Amino acid sequence: MSDTTRRCVCPGSYDPVTMGHLDVFTRASALWDEVVIAVLHNPDKQGTFAIEERLELLRRATADLPNVRVRAFARTLLVEVCRQVGADVILKGLRSDTDFAYELPMALMNRELTGVETVFLPGNPRLGHLSSSLIREVASLGGDVTGMVPDAVHDALRERVTPRGAS
Ligand code: PNS
Repeated sequence: MSDTTRRCVCPGSYDPVTMGHLDVFTRASALWDEVVIAVLHNPDKQGTFAIEERLELLRRATADLPNVRVRAFARTLLVEVCRQVGADVILKGLRSDTDFAYELPMALMNRELTGVETVFLPGNPRLGHLSSSLIREVASLGGDVTGMVPDAVHDALRERVTPRGAS
């Protein structure tokens, strides 16, 4: 029997997941039958959160979205991820024209490789300043990231990231 499920892949590092990511997942879950969040990582590079922690935080953040799945892939082309999970669309949120300039060559390359299409969702402008790297920096310097990340991430950052100057 053929699989008629319409699936999209939301790829990223998610170190850690932010409310901007969650906004995209929530909207995607209403547009596709199934949304696969693909955590792409290089095992040689240490992130702030280990891959298992990123997966757990993503699963907790998306627990109320029944058609969202979370998977990890190491050293894999994104088009291969799409092939493995049976998705014909890559979904990306766009915060700005800078994001678009960065994303467009990758979208064109991925389409040339296998024909997979990339769909862009305009991000919520109220969340447009959020990025995993800024969240990590603010948290590491003792700033309050309440409301910028899911609650589980907020708690994990408090435990994980010791503010500089604190012993
Ligand atoms: O959250 P990030 O770090 O912006 O995510 C970047 C990611 C993982 C989406 C990007 O690096 C990626 O697509 N990696 C897969 C490697 C690949 O397929 N490259 C060639 C096609 S452009």
